[in-house]
Amino acid sequence: MTQPSPDAPSLAPADPDRPAPVLVTGAAGALGTAVRARLAAAGRPTAALVRSPEEADALRSAGTWARAVDLLDEASVADAIDDAHRDLGPPAGALLLAGGFAMAPAADADLRALRAQWDVNVATAASVVRALVPVLRVHAGGTLVGVAAGQARRGGAKAAPYASAKAALAAYLRAVDEELAPEGVRATVVFPMGTLDTAANRRAMPDADPAGWIDLAVLADVLVQAIELGPRGRWREVEVHPDAR
Ligand SMILES: NC(=O)c1ccc[n+]([C@@H]2O[C@H](COP(=O)([O-])OP(=O)(O)OC[C@H]3O[C@@H](n4cnc5c(N)ncnc54)[C@H](OP(=O)(O)O)[C@@H]3O)[C@@H](O)[C@H]2O)c1
Repeated sequence: MTQPSPDAPSLAPADPDRPAPVLVTGAAGALGTAVRARLAAAGRPTAALVRSPEEADALRSAGTWARAVDLLDEASVADAIDDAHRDLGPPAGALLLAGGFAMAPAADADLRALRAQWDVNVATAASVVRALVPVLRVHAGGTLVGVAAGQARRGGAKAAPYASAKAALAAYLRAVDEELAPEGVRATVVFPMGTLDTAANRRAMPDADPAGWIDLAVLADVLVQAIELGPRGRWREVEVHPDAR
C-alpha cells in the first residue's frame, strides 16, 4: 500500500496501469467480506470503511487499505475519503453496503425506531455520497451503488421502518443519478429480493433452508459489475432473486 505523504496533492491523478480502487462501506460485514474477495480477484484495490478500529487493524494487517469511521459522522467520513483518495488515487466508485435491519410491528415502532433505520440505511450512504461526489466530478465520474432490499419494493410485515428506509435509499440514489449522470456520476440500486446466505442469518433461522437464500458471492459479483459497466450500457436498478423454495 502506498504510504501517505504530507506533501501529496489532495487530488491524486489516475494511474492508467492500475484498476481504479473501489470504496466499500460495511466492508467488514458479511456482504462486505464477499465484496472484498471479489474486488481482490479482479485486482482492484479496496478502500475499506469499517466501524471498529480492531476491524480496520485486521484488514490493514492483511494488506487492505482500511479506516475505522462512524458513517454518521460527516467530518470523519470526509477525512477518510480524502485519505483514501490521496493514498490510492481516484476511485471507480463506491459500494454502499453499510446497513442494518430491525423487526418491529408498525404500531410499536416509535419515531426513534423509524429514525434509527433511516440513519443506518440512508444516512450511512448519504454521508459517503456527499463527500465522494466532488472527487468523482473532478475525475470524470464513477458509480455509486447502494444495497436496498425486497421490502423496499413490496413492504413486509413487521418491517415498516426498514422497508421505508430502504425505499428512501433507493429514491435518494435515483435522484443522485438523475442529477449527476450528465457529469459522469452514476448511481445504481441493487435490490436483493430475499434473504442473504450469511452466518448471522443461518444462526437466526436454524430451521430455514439456505438453498433458498441469495449467495453472497453472486451478489458481490453483481455489485462489482454495477461499477464496472460503462456509461453506454449500465444498470440503474437491479433485482437479484433466489429461486422460490
Ligand atoms: N442480510 C440480509 O439478509 C440482507 C437482505 C437484504 C439486504 N441486505 C442489506 O445488505 C447490506 C449488507 O448486509 P450484511 O448482511 O452484510 O450486513 P452486516 O454483516 O451487518 O454488515 C453491515 C455493516 O455495516 C456497518 N455499519 C452499520 N452502520 C454503520 C455506521 N454508522 N458506521 C460504520 N459502519 C456501519 C456494520 O457495522 P457494525 O457491525 O459495527 O454495526 C456492519 O459491519 C446491508 O445494507 C443490508 O441492509 C441484507
